[in-house]
Amino acid sequence: MLFLPVLFAVLYQVHTLPLHTEEGKFFNQLLTLSFFFFFHVHEYLFKSWMSQYDKNYEINEYYQRLQIFLDNKKKIERHNAGNHKFSMGLNPFSDMTFAEFKKSYLLTEPQNCSATRGNHLSSNGPYPDMIDWRTKGNYVTNVKNQGACGSCWTFSTTGCLESVTAIATGKLLQLAEQQLVDCAGAFDNHGCNGGLPSHAFEYIMYNKGLMTELDYPYTAKVSILLFQLLFSRFIHKVVTFYDEMGMVDAVARLNPVSFAYEVTSDFMHYKDGIYTSTVCHNTTDMVNHAVLAVGYAEQNGTPYWIVKNSWGTYWGINGYFYIERGKNMCGLAACSSYPLPLV
Ligand SMILES: *[C@@H]1O[C@H](CO)[C@@H](O)[C@H](O)[C@H]1NC(C)=O
Ligand SMILES: *[C@@H]1O[C@H](CO)[C@@H](O)[C@H](O)[C@H]1NC(C)=O
Repeated sequence: MLFLPVLFAVLYQVHTLPLHTEEGKFFNQLLTLSFFFFFHVHEYLFKSWMSQYDKNYEINEYYQRLQIFLDNKKKIERHNAGNHKFSMGLNPFSDMTFAEFKKSYLLTEPQNCSATRGNHLSSNGPYPDMIDWRTKGNYVTNVKNQGACGSCWTFSTTGCLESVTAIATGKLLQLAEQQLVDCAGAFDNHGCNGGLPSHAFEYIMYNKGLMTELDYPYTAKVSILLFQLLFSRFIHKVVTFYDEMGMVDAVARLNPVSFAYEVTSDFMHYKDGIYTSTVCHNTTDMVNHAVLAVGYAEQNGTPYWIVKNSWGTYWGINGYFYIERGKNMCGLAACSSYPLPLV
């Protein structure tokens, strides 16, 4: 690949040669050919990415997606060449602009975090240096995929309740996000347009339970309200409000914790490492995504959260990501919550 820029440089120098000379014609043809070649290398990459992620387009859309893909690829390469704590990579979202991504995958309405009141009671520690609920036992279900629906809040909720239930009972159930998408509207949730785990816990408490995934499968769209069976229950929800140490306390002593934060454009390309941003906001009104903290650790002096996302396993670190801890990064401590198990 290295010879290509050199070739272009040479061609650029000579392409101004008068066309009527033999050299001029020759170089002009060479220039055209090399552009085709260059284009094909890119198209080849795009096509292998398409087959990797099973993408198909109409011909018009194909060229539009190719352009967006190349723009994203450039962004990723520029980021990875810089000095950052995290790397970016191609993933299933590489053919989307951030505006498109935001519309399909993030919370599009402002969330009312201030409705939550901090009632988590912290111990005084000390806390272990690292916790990972995935390795402590069979407590964390597999990474799921919300699809093109702003239902992250339901996955954060089920993920948390699944873990809390498993830790309390030893049984790891898969719980129904779709029931929350369809039925939790009365608790300030909005189906595919968003909601909050703390509000979803209110619904589950009121409903006296949540069905399993098997009985109420996920469809990534709003459907009719089904009848309700009781499966996973808890006493009441607990929240922490701008209290990241409270989150550490809860994750260290009790269980994984649901939290919300603001996703900005670089995050959709996240691949590995500890995510940090100087662009995102840190207040409740700006949060647009909800996830599940399943642990925490520290690397080269940077503390971080281990977080389960709901964008499938091809995104990030097999569906997980790390985000800097201790700074309310992107508002992650603004509205976190978890339920207390009923045993
Ligand atoms: C947010 O919640 C609080 C407390 O429940 C409520 O007073 C307020 O009206 C809500 N705001 C919005 C915009 O829903
Ligand atoms: C948000 O960030 C600003 C600027 O970095 C900081 O001064 C403020 O304390 C932060 N607020 C919260 C709630 O974390």
